[in-house]
Parts: sequence; C-alpha cells; structure tokens
Amino acid sequence: MKVLVVGGGGREHTIVWALKKSPRIQKLYCAPGNAGIAELAECIPLQVNQFEELSQFALREAVDLVVIGPDDPLSEGIVDHMEGHGLAVYGPRQNAAIIEGSKVFTKQLLRDYNIPTAAYGSFDRYEDAQAYLQQQALPIVIKADGLAAGKGVIIAQTKEEAETALKQIMVDKVFGESGNQVVIEEFLTGQEMSILSFVDGEVVRPMLPSQDHKQVFDGDRGPNTGGMGTYSPVPHIPQSLIDEAIETIIRPTAAAMVKEGRPFRGVLFAGLMMTPNGPKTIEFNARFGDPETQVVLPLLETDLLEIFLATLEGKLADIEIEWSTDSAVCVVLASGGYPASYAKGLPIEGLDQVQHSVVFHAGTAVKDGRMVTNGGRVLGVTARGASIQEARERAYADADRIRFDGKHYRTDIALKALV
Ligand code: AMP
Ligand code: GLY
Repeated sequence: MKVLVVGGGGREHTIVWALKKSPRIQKLYCAPGNAGIAELAECIPLQVNQFEELSQFALREAVDLVVIGPDDPLSEGIVDHMEGHGLAVYGPRQNAAIIEGSKVFTKQLLRDYNIPTAAYGSFDRYEDAQAYLQQQALPIVIKADGLAAGKGVIIAQTKEEAETALKQIMVDKVFGESGNQVVIEEFLTGQEMSILSFVDGEVVRPMLPSQDHKQVFDGDRGPNTGGMGTYSPVPHIPQSLIDEAIETIIRPTAAAMVKEGRPFRGVLFAGLMMTPNGPKTIEFNARFGDPETQVVLPLLETDLLEIFLATLEGKLADIEIEWSTDSAVCVVLASGGYPASYAKGLPIEGLDQVQHSVVFHAGTAVKDGRMVTNGGRVLGVTARGASIQEARERAYADADRIRFDGKHYRTDIALKALV
C-alpha cells in the first residue's frame, strides 16, 4: 500500500516510524515531513493547508490511505476535502473535529450529556464575561474558544490577571477570531493524564494512558510549551480510575457525538484531571498528541496500518489491539530560548551515539549535508524499559549523547510516576 502522512513534527515522525514496520507498506510519503522523517519516507514539499495540492498529489501517486497529523487542517476540513476527491483518509471530518476546534461547543456537549467536566460559563459579549468573572473564586481558568497554538488557556491566580487575560482575548484579540467567544471555568486540582483512543462512531478502543509535561522548566515552572516530555503508562494512577474515565467520559462523549450527527472517526485525545471527585474532562483533541504519541505508539504491538484500515472498513470493534507491558519515556530536547524566540540552523552532533532510544525529529533540517536545528522543539528521545525508572534512565543517557548549542531539556520527566 501507498500511504501519505500529512504533517511534519515529532508526532508525524512517530506515526511514520510505526507505519514503516507494517509488512503491507510499499511506499510512504510525508508532507512536508522533516529531516528525520526523510530517513523513512519520501518527503513532499507541500504544506498541511494545501488541501487541493495534497489531494492532487495523492491521486497522481495512487495513494491508498492518507493520515492527517495536526489539528489545524482537521478543523479546516482537510478530511472532507480529500474524501471529496475519492481518497481514503484517516481522521475526523470537520463537523467532528469541532470537538477540539471549539471549546464552547465541547463544554456545551459535556453539559448536555452530563459528562464530568469543570463548571463553567461561556460568553460572546465582553461585558457578560466580566460580570461572571466577578462572582468566581480564584484561581480561575480563562480559555479562548478556538485554536490558539496551545496558548489559549490562562490560569489566573488573581482577579487582575483574569481581567487582563479576558481583555487580551476578547478586546485586543491576541488570538484573533479564536477569541470571539471565551470559556471561564473552575480550576481543577489533581493528577493530569491523557488517554488517546482509536474511535469510530461509538466504538472506542483506548490506548495506554500517558502524561505530558507542559511547562518549560523543572517542577512545572515557566511558560507553557507544546510539551517537554511524556511517559506511558501512568503506574501511580490506579487502573480503576483509568477505567472510570473511559466509561464516564470517553465512551459517553463518542456516543454523544454520534447522537449529535457528528460521528468521530480517528484518534480522540482526552485530557483528564483526576480530581478528588473523580476524573473530569479538561479538553478533547481530535488527533494524536504531541509528544504523547512518542511514548504510546512505541508500546503498540499491533500493526498501526491494520488499525487504520479496520477503522475505515467499519471493523475497529473486531481487531485485536495489543500493547507491550513495557514503559516508555520521551525527553524533548528544545532550542535555548523556547517557547520564546530561539536560534535555528545550529549543528546537531551525537545522533549516531544513541544506544537505547529512538530519536523522533520535531524541528530539524539538513543544511550542507549536516543535521541542524529548525524549530523550538528539536528532538524527542524515546526509550523503552521494563519499568518507568529503566526507560527514564535510558532516555536521559541518550539525551546527554546528543549535542547542539543551547540544548535545553527538563530533568524531571516521569518523576511523578516514581514517588
Ligand atoms: P490546553 O491548552 O487546553 O491543553 O490546557 C493547558 C493546560 O491548562 C492543561 O494541560 C491543564 O494543565 C491546564 N488546565 C486547563 N483547564 C484547567 C482547569 N479547568 N483546571 C486546572 N487546570 C486546567
Ligand atoms: N501534548 C498536548 C497536545 O498534543 O495537545
């Protein structure tokens, strides 16, 4: 089979790496890809928002399956567009991708179907939002409705911070149209966890749970990033709570989307908080997580291509999906300065000295025959081990073997699982 993966980050490198293991793959393409992906697939210089060009390419090359990685094209309807050309596409259509694209939509859905989530109000008028804010306890969480490159959530510790955030989103429009509406919600406490599931309508096949580290510095300090590291599974969270989250949140949400005439097909990512009152929804994403994928797919023992194909044939409920009993840890190596401004084009050394890990490229390029940095998150170093502890030691040993100027990483990835 010929398969085209759309996207060019660490998540897409991991998807390509997993698909490459399938005996049924004859040819892999990735658009636009990156320097690491280029070692496994043919990279096509098309951007993820070039729906028509991507469709024409897939038709010309007789691609059998297209897999969409990132959220933006999903929200903008890439699946509908490519299906309109008769292509087979893995990912949710636009009317289902709204579960990530609009926080107001998702909060209303959860409320309508009694699915656990933080108490909230949603507003399209600034004055109404201000008035609601005055009555709320602190800390309080302010969210722009639409996609905001992972920056649209502000946790305000004081009334002043909350008011500033509200004004920036709704009046100054720092996130553009995404700020036409806001969600103001209760601050939840507890352990955070992500569960990604393969979903087709009401059929939900959960993957292993994982945990991300969003802040740039150790101890969850500093500004939020796309994710500085992950681990899977989450041995310190009891299986009973994981099951409760699946039964009270993920399955009911998939069923609710069907009832709303928005059946979800693809990877549904549930961001969850294990609160003292049980699991609650923080958010849903309509795609694989980045860098959750970098620890979850390395533990998948079933052929990923077979899961995608079974989904498109309406047979997701029937396929056996097996997981390793190992653990995996991913340490992200970022550019100095990230998530603010950083240099690009710095030579990367030591990739050939890595011993136990798979290195997934997030922001790399080849310049004059040398591998160089080309993004904020540069590499994700993933190791497996019999325990989180072992996987962690291996990932860090390899993270130290890789060198580039300004290299920054957190030293406490997965420590929460070890206390
Ligand atoms: P998001 O950009 O939607 O992934 O949110 C970023 C982060 O904000 C989440 O991973 C949580 O750590 C935090 N967060 C979002 N909503 C809440 C909430 N209601 N209570 C506490 N933390 C939250
Ligand atoms: N790691 C969080 C996300 O993919 O949105």
